[in-house]
Amino acid sequence: MNQPHEPGHVNPILAAGDEPASNESHNAYFGDILEARMNRRTLLRGSLAVAVASAMATSLPFGRALAAGAPLASPHIGFQAIPVSTADSVVVPEGYRVQAFIPWGTPISGSMPASSLEASGEDQGHQVGSHHDGMHFFPLGDSSRDGLLVLNHEYVEPRFMHAAAQGLALDSEGFPQHEDGTRDADQVRKELNAHGVTVVRVQAGEAGQWQVIEDEHNRRITGLTPMRLAGPVAGTEHVVTKYSPDGSMTRGTLNNCSNGVTPWNTYLAAEENWSGYFANEDAEIDRRQARFGIQTRSEGRYQWHRAEGGADEFVRFDATSRGASPSEDYRNEPHTFGYMTEIDPYDPESTPVKRTHLGRFAHEGVIFAPAVEGQPVVCYSGDDARFEYIYKFVSARPYQAATADGSLLDEGTLYVAKFNDDGSGEWLALAPGENGLTPENGFADLADILVNTRSAADHAGATKMDRPEWGAVDPATGQVYFTLTNNTRRSEEQRDAANPRAENHFGHIIRWQEEGTHAAERFQWDIFLLAGDRESGRDMNGEPLDQDAILASPDGLWIDPDRRVWIQTDISESAVNAGVYAPFGNNQMLVANPETGEIKRFLTGPVGQEITGIAMTPDQRTLFVNVQHPGANTSAEDFAEGRLVSHWPEGGNALPRSATLVITREDGGIIGA
Ligand code: FEO
Ligand code: CA
Ligand code: CA
Repeated sequence: MNQPHEPGHVNPILAAGDEPASNESHNAYFGDILEARMNRRTLLRGSLAVAVASAMATSLPFGRALAAGAPLASPHIGFQAIPVSTADSVVVPEGYRVQAFIPWGTPISGSMPASSLEASGEDQGHQVGSHHDGMHFFPLGDSSRDGLLVLNHEYVEPRFMHAAAQGLALDSEGFPQHEDGTRDADQVRKELNAHGVTVVRVQAGEAGQWQVIEDEHNRRITGLTPMRLAGPVAGTEHVVTKYSPDGSMTRGTLNNCSNGVTPWNTYLAAEENWSGYFANEDAEIDRRQARFGIQTRSEGRYQWHRAEGGADEFVRFDATSRGASPSEDYRNEPHTFGYMTEIDPYDPESTPVKRTHLGRFAHEGVIFAPAVEGQPVVCYSGDDARFEYIYKFVSARPYQAATADGSLLDEGTLYVAKFNDDGSGEWLALAPGENGLTPENGFADLADILVNTRSAADHAGATKMDRPEWGAVDPATGQVYFTLTNNTRRSEEQRDAANPRAENHFGHIIRWQEEGTHAAERFQWDIFLLAGDRESGRDMNGEPLDQDAILASPDGLWIDPDRRVWIQTDISESAVNAGVYAPFGNNQMLVANPETGEIKRFLTGPVGQEITGIAMTPDQRTLFVNVQHPGANTSAEDFAEGRLVSHWPEGGNALPRSATLVITREDGGIIGA
């Protein structure tokens, strides 16, 4: 029945990490602005600029423009930095311990089905998903030793999860399929159930080892879980489907990259590269899909719509207009993805909710400003694709701790960032009648603006960025930091004379300070870090990065309560440890000081993975970090022969698995201090 298994492979444009560049607008490029800004800085701070220019034969924007005023206390970064590594292991500083925890397939609920390649699609719905990403620790009570760990599962690597894949020449995006192009339905169910979010109760044991506890909170939310749509897009014609003719519901959350935590202590899972999952054979594809990279095509990332038996939950990944009306097919199914999905981990019966007012795009994650009683709720989110934007949502209703809930995210204003060349910035409202968003210009109403967030931002005149990833807010200063991971597609033509990063291989970190509260419509911005090697990397002082600080492709970002800035890297598995990326070794995690710019490497991961996702217990004595896609750079030929570049975490001949790291100090101290 399962034979023959012809290897399937999908167009690379649908593949992980290859976020399709689909911004055809003529908005300013961030690099243009950096250059213009630097020209101004050159006048203002000539000596540094000259020093930098002579060091690099070019000029770069460094800054401490936001660091004027009385310096704040620096966080203590006390560990001994570790070197880069190419080993198939996790390395942490001396005095630290690390445990690999809850790898893909770990049973958490139901009959606790054991992890195995033979496990069914239904079993997978009771096991930890794959490709661990954004994460948060929700304590039970005030405990730092007992809580709910909630984590995203961004995508899957089918060759590492099906018995039928063994021996086939499959690369990291390949999957088994039948000669006629159909797929085994249970494999498809397993892949869908390996996506989404895990909620699992975890407890510290006597010897500092953590363990999974069977508990009523334990839950998988997957690519098949019923979800409610909320906010202005809910109930509109944009989201009418055969499954939900009134446009109120959809199934599943997909490609959950980073996360956010609301002031009312719920979890938000981002939907990032969701568009690749959909086929659409319509000759004409409008901006609701085209602007997100869906083109006329018969294939989707894993060909889920080709599952044998044609079950409704699978055929919906074909967005072709096949019925007489939108309520008789899935032409609108892609319009129910691209949102932030809210989950209440403390209520296992709760239905996840997609909050459409936070915008529809390739959400990397979301970061909330600290909530202030009586003031609006504010959160920030990046759209991770080349030349896309950074957004902010400001609630209409004020935050009241006693009554706050997710409905605060259903009314308000979505803004998009414009970075001016004088170091100022503006938030452009994406709302009816604002910034040219009128019916005459093709934006009928608020729902139309939100379902077409990217097009609205184009029209408003936002600044094109180099792949916005995670954000973080400094708890002392309120400064907002965002990683911009890289953008190698910036051409020479798009580069200006003084912009040294026409091909931005290494990425950078921007930060800004709002003018007033986080709800302000203007801000001042600066550059915190230019990632790179010892030649090209620069810290906030414009100084070259030393060997303990070199990094490329900053992605994960978090600022702890003591203000340590944790930076995680994601050099693509197709590029890591080769060419310009050779100096950096495997993907890693570093800690930066926001006052001095000092950076120290804290952790290096195994072969082929990215480090992503970070959470701490309230006492700051246990750190959780995710290792995603170890071994992903195993070639199809090597996979067929059983030669894997990584066997992490089990070692021996084991298939590699994504997993969570639990990091503690031997002396029980605060992590990073
Ligand atoms: Fe899922 Fe932008 O990383
Ligand atoms: Ca990421
Ligand atoms: Ca990334």
